[in-house]
Amino acid sequence: MNYGHFDDKKREYVIDRPDTPLPWINYLGCEAYFGIISNTAGGYSFYRDARLRRLTRYRYNHVPFDFGGRYIYLRDNSTGKFWSPSWQPTQHDAEEYSCRHGMGYSIIGSTFNKIKAETLYFVPLGENLEIWQLSVTNLSKKARYLSVFSSIEFCLWDAQDDSTNFQRNFSTGEVEVDDGVIYHKTEYRERRDHFAYFACSEKLAGYDTQRDVFLGAYRSWNKPSAVERGRSFNSMAHGWAPIGSHHVKLNLKAGETRIVTFVLGYHENPKDKKFDPPDSQIINKRTVQPVIKKYLNPITVQAAFDSLRSYWEKILDLYQVQTPDKHTNRMVNIWNAYQCMATFNMSRSASFYESGIGRGLGFRDSNQDLLGFVHMVPDRARERILDLASTQLETGGAYHQYQPLTKRGNNDIGGDFNDDPLWLIIGVAAYLKETGDWSILDAPVPYDNKSGSEMPLYEHLERSLKYTLDRLGPHKLPLIGRADWNDCLNLNCFSDTPGQSFQTTTNKDGKVAESVFIAGMFVLAAHELADIAERRGLNTNAAGYRRAAEKMDSTVHTHGWDGEWFLRAYDDFGKKIGSKECEEGKIFIEPQGFCILAGIGLEDGLAKKALDSVNKILATSHGIMLQQPAYSKYYLNLGEISSYPPGYKENAGIFCHNNPWIIIAEAMMGNGDRAFDYYLRINPSAREKIGKLHRCEPYVYAQMIAGRDAPTHGEAKNSWLTGTAAWNYFAVTQFILGVRPTYKGLMVAPAIPTKWDGFSVSRIFQGVCYNISVKREGKGNKVRLMVDGLAVEGNIIPKPPSGVTQVAVQVLLN
Ligand code: BGC
Ligand code: NOJ
Repeated sequence: MNYGHFDDKKREYVIDRPDTPLPWINYLGCEAYFGIISNTAGGYSFYRDARLRRLTRYRYNHVPFDFGGRYIYLRDNSTGKFWSPSWQPTQHDAEEYSCRHGMGYSIIGSTFNKIKAETLYFVPLGENLEIWQLSVTNLSKKARYLSVFSSIEFCLWDAQDDSTNFQRNFSTGEVEVDDGVIYHKTEYRERRDHFAYFACSEKLAGYDTQRDVFLGAYRSWNKPSAVERGRSFNSMAHGWAPIGSHHVKLNLKAGETRIVTFVLGYHENPKDKKFDPPDSQIINKRTVQPVIKKYLNPITVQAAFDSLRSYWEKILDLYQVQTPDKHTNRMVNIWNAYQCMATFNMSRSASFYESGIGRGLGFRDSNQDLLGFVHMVPDRARERILDLASTQLETGGAYHQYQPLTKRGNNDIGGDFNDDPLWLIIGVAAYLKETGDWSILDAPVPYDNKSGSEMPLYEHLERSLKYTLDRLGPHKLPLIGRADWNDCLNLNCFSDTPGQSFQTTTNKDGKVAESVFIAGMFVLAAHELADIAERRGLNTNAAGYRRAAEKMDSTVHTHGWDGEWFLRAYDDFGKKIGSKECEEGKIFIEPQGFCILAGIGLEDGLAKKALDSVNKILATSHGIMLQQPAYSKYYLNLGEISSYPPGYKENAGIFCHNNPWIIIAEAMMGNGDRAFDYYLRINPSAREKIGKLHRCEPYVYAQMIAGRDAPTHGEAKNSWLTGTAAWNYFAVTQFILGVRPTYKGLMVAPAIPTKWDGFSVSRIFQGVCYNISVKREGKGNKVRLMVDGLAVEGNIIPKPPSGVTQVAVQVLLN
């Protein structure tokens, strides 16, 4: 069942009924000011940090789930009828409803009562504000007298405190209304130098800033008193719940269209210029008024919208493909790339499933996200790498997360996830291959943000590798620490206290439990660092890393192989996990993927065996499960993984994040058919036709699809913020399509389905546009390259002489 359709030309997904199974959302903003917006205009906004600088309030776990947002009400002043063009919160049955989610904007509207109304929501580049541009058309044959009411509820900045500390917060709320602009200034009188503002382009008939006056006693947002009676109360918030609502009267002739613009923004004043006059408590508005004025002008709004569109066009044009498969095309060309930018901006912090108050930016997550966005925003990737590395500890270990506003490691979560440091090497290698910017390795980067502790980034990478070698267990495999990639395999936790967080509790110092997954990662990272060292002329270092990698590779052969697949781990008693000897959890996906990515077992048949086992035991039509058989009960020695009911999340769910590892492994083995088959199983566009079961947005990946053991097998959960975005993008663009940045140049090594007759890619790499056309001649993956008409040995396109910006590449596959 479909709830909408793709409009690939406009790069939009069009939702044509509001009652989607879950809120289908989009992100506004791509720099510092962000908003989450659902298909009914629900969601919230924040500046940089979803916890510490929340502009608008959102009630978690509300009923309905999608509730509270950027709501507009229209009222027919002749009849008193009122409705909301975004459907929520009045839920009127519109004659026609549509939500177009595009690149950094959403257009939501409907036709009701012969009034067509739609609102364009977006954040202009370079600004800390969002625009709501409402256009109202009178489709009837007579004049109509309408009222428009805007509405938002302000959050008192710290979203955590805002939703808990009522005894204080009910007394602190403050606003000002000046020249039709509503200013939210709670705590501005003391230590804050920032405030929010909500402005409207039209002359106001009234306003409200106190929620309970606007709504009326015992009422909700579906029936505000002010809207019902058609007149604002001009209320001023003193404490309680400050809101912003404008009232505008619109008289429309038959057929007439009018535009009303609202601007919601965030502004900071210099500490010594907060007030005007200086000895008053009144906000100094002189610094913000020009911005407000600028964006209330429809010409500026149009220009800002055009620049946003060309910004995205430029980014997406960096990699465009034409294949025989429409799902591949639209995900690679549009939505998967777009989702990678969302994970870059948000990591796992703010979505409808990540509250924005629990998590900052993950060390492991952000490094992996790099794989998906590094070619789109290389400068920002560089900054991200340096921010991440600055939180690294002197031991080489890492804080698991850091707070985006302060860029400091988060002490509440701490560290000791023993895979974390290795991801830095993988992220940096991806950056170097893409950009060729070797200077980053010399950038001085502190440990734990302590000034004076700066060391070149390269040294951080060395410590990352050493961190693993300093922590080997009884089999000489890496100790797992609190957990590895799988946050829920908590082998040192032994938690028997209800509700205790598996993520922050470590009961044992963990000298026994080992991870084969980290071993695979180590081999991969050590080879990456060796490649880097060789290119810097550090041959002795490189040789050392290679030796360490080979040693670990052989340890995996000896202690990490189970006969038909790679083992997962050893627990605190030294017992195997992910082995045929286990009763449950006999085989896990992670080591099969990562050991092969590292090249382990490619030559001696282990890789093939492991992948065949995955195919036989873990693959379902909805994707590849994390492990099998699911744990049917709680295991004290395993932790959170066994806390989930069978088939969900890490307990044998289809954890989409590591499906691409298997896709890459299959592609490395030359199995284009299998790689592509797996790719399509979780491709959201390909799953659009089973929308009723899938439930999440068909334009972005979700973290999980319920596994075979779950009663809701095939149902997706936790859309948007998942490493799945980057890894799938990486897998399809670099391994199935095979267009891969390397230190020597762009490699073309496709592993496409046998039945494809070819495809073409245009890829901008280090300033050069490569137009690559691949033709299948035989059934295999052997590449013959012609570059600008000349045959080239191997499968790497040599970098052209400087000045050349276009290169034509013909590839024959045999
Ligand atoms: C989830 C993991 C997540 C972890 C950290 C667990 O409850 O299952 O997927 O990584 O929490 O927040
Ligand atoms: C989600 C977390 O963000 C990620 O870091 C982790 O690897 C996976 N869950 C698996 O547990």
